[in-house]
Amino acid sequence: MRNKITVIGAGHVGETAAFNIAKLELGDVVLIDIIDGMPQGKALDMFEASPIFPFDANIKGTNDYADTAGSDVIVMTAGLPRKPGMSRDDLLFKNMAIVKECIGRVAKGSPDAILIVISNPLDAMVEVARRVSGFPKERVMGMAGILDSARMRAFIAMELGVSIENTHAFVLGGHGDSMVPLPRYSTVAGIPITHLLPQERIDAIVERTRKGGGEIVSLLKTGSAYYAPGIAAAQMADAILRDKHKILPCAAYLEGEYGLDGIYMGVPVQLGRKGIEKIIEIELTEEEKAALYKSADAVRGLFEKFPDDLK
Ligand code: NAI
Ligand code: 2OP
Repeated sequence: MRNKITVIGAGHVGETAAFNIAKLELGDVVLIDIIDGMPQGKALDMFEASPIFPFDANIKGTNDYADTAGSDVIVMTAGLPRKPGMSRDDLLFKNMAIVKECIGRVAKGSPDAILIVISNPLDAMVEVARRVSGFPKERVMGMAGILDSARMRAFIAMELGVSIENTHAFVLGGHGDSMVPLPRYSTVAGIPITHLLPQERIDAIVERTRKGGGEIVSLLKTGSAYYAPGIAAAQMADAILRDKHKILPCAAYLEGEYGLDGIYMGVPVQLGRKGIEKIIEIELTEEEKAALYKSADAVRGLFEKFPDDLK
């Protein structure tokens, strides 16, 4: 039987994720949104693209959660994106209500699914999804680290004029301005960038990575990034559904790892058919640890704003 992947929210990120998932032939895709007709139209358009690419996947657009039943993977993208001048945290209360409603409804019909949350503020929304679904931590994760690392890779490739394929980048922490890009673990053809670039260029790459989401928002003016986020979600679904045991940076629920407890943070994890198979711990300097804990404090601050019914 084919896998079934539900994408909640057929806006920019949802449609991009759904199209990439279909192109990877990970299974049949259900695209659900609150707006009548819109997911149906986008799904039909994608299916009409399939003979040209070509790819073999059924894509159904819907407004009815009954169509999502029995999903193997659920990608949660519904929610407001930020506009210029807004931080991801400004979206907290509106998106919390949306995540609560959508996850509550989808989890009932897909009790064995793996949840990949994208809605912002990411680390808080994935915790809302974990609490509302009641799913074990291995099956509830967030997408941000792949995006943040991809941005850092792009900036390294631009700086050195090398192929993007030679680059590897490592970003830990929450998906906010206090995220922790790690130059020591970021490489070009296996060589740490600390051996290739002067400190001030590394500092500039770190800063641009931290503000990468805001850079796109200020250029677009009407919303936030979606090409890179959409394909990042598809990469996570691919690692899970093809049981790749692939190590990727994802928001995972920590219980003691990195000295943090009861919090979602971006860390390297091994992804396979059961979800998060392993959290990989790497050695950090005192300075890197301090930056990670600062990022964790920012995420904890959001958890503390949760209403009583989510506590
Ligand atoms: P968008 O505005 O293009 O799409 C959001 C969609 O959610 C809309 O189609 C809307 O109708 C739908 N929606 C709203 N309430 C709903 C409900 N109750 N049920 C079903 N659908 C509902 O926004 P975009 O650009 O797709 O961004 C979506 C979210 O993803 C935002 O919160 C954004 O901040 C976040 N994001 C997170 C990233 C990450 O790295 N974690 C990267 C990019 C975006
Ligand atoms: C980003 O980093 C909006 O969180 C999203 O682009």
